[in-house]
Amino acid sequence: MTALGLERRIIIVSTAFALTLFGLAALAINLFHVGLPTCLTDIKPFQKGELITHSPTHYEVHYVSRMWEFDPDEVVVPVGSVVDIYVSTRDVTHGLILLGTNLNLMAVPGVVNYTRVKFDKPGLHQLLCHEYCGTGHDRMAANLRVVDLPTFQAKQSAPTQIHATDATYKLLEAKDCLTCHSIDGSEGIGPTLKGIYGRQTKLTNGSTIAADDVYLRESIVNPSAKVTEGFDDLMPKPELTEEETNAIVEYLETLK
Ligand code: CUA
Repeated sequence: MTALGLERRIIIVSTAFALTLFGLAALAINLFHVGLPTCLTDIKPFQKGELITHSPTHYEVHYVSRMWEFDPDEVVVPVGSVVDIYVSTRDVTHGLILLGTNLNLMAVPGVVNYTRVKFDKPGLHQLLCHEYCGTGHDRMAANLRVVDLPTFQAKQSAPTQIHATDATYKLLEAKDCLTCHSIDGSEGIGPTLKGIYGRQTKLTNGSTIAADDVYLRESIVNPSAKVTEGFDDLMPKPELTEEETNAIVEYLETLK
């Protein structure tokens, strides 16, 4: 074989190899929704966060990051969904990581980054900022909840905003309580607040108690005193005035 013939063969074989690899990568992206972080998109940065429904199994989220929160801070999609996630920032550079997925994107001023995630299992994913962005950096967190279809449909038909005008609801939001405790019965890092009053509660020390107002108050003021079984002792002591604590206990009693 001449040197020219050999060179031609090598070129043909390596081209075929490169094309095969490229084809397999394209196949993986399309068939299995393997989310490869793409390069920058040419989309203009968003002014506000949004969840867009394309179909019952295809969603699009626009995350706006700013010191020190993500908008939207709560996204709920049904299990099996494909979610196109776009991230942008209104101020400095933030980093977005969605725990339990391969989403890891920078939110860089002036541009929008994108990736696609498919959610095959129900669960709670926390969105955290992993790029130091100032004194409130560690507070930057949001939830993405993947729920089964019946739960999702129930959520869609129920008016979820009924509590939003309530001053105590706003207080719970402001004190970050709702990051870990839901009020609609969905699972979270802490026990749901729905129906908490009077609930028979099993504790990590083995005993069971009815959640009366004494217990509720203690669990707010001194969260580590009695921890519900199945949950970790993670709750920080909130900074609340006596009136605020009273208002929250009263409010919890109404969450049937
Ligand atoms: Cu945003 Cu750290």
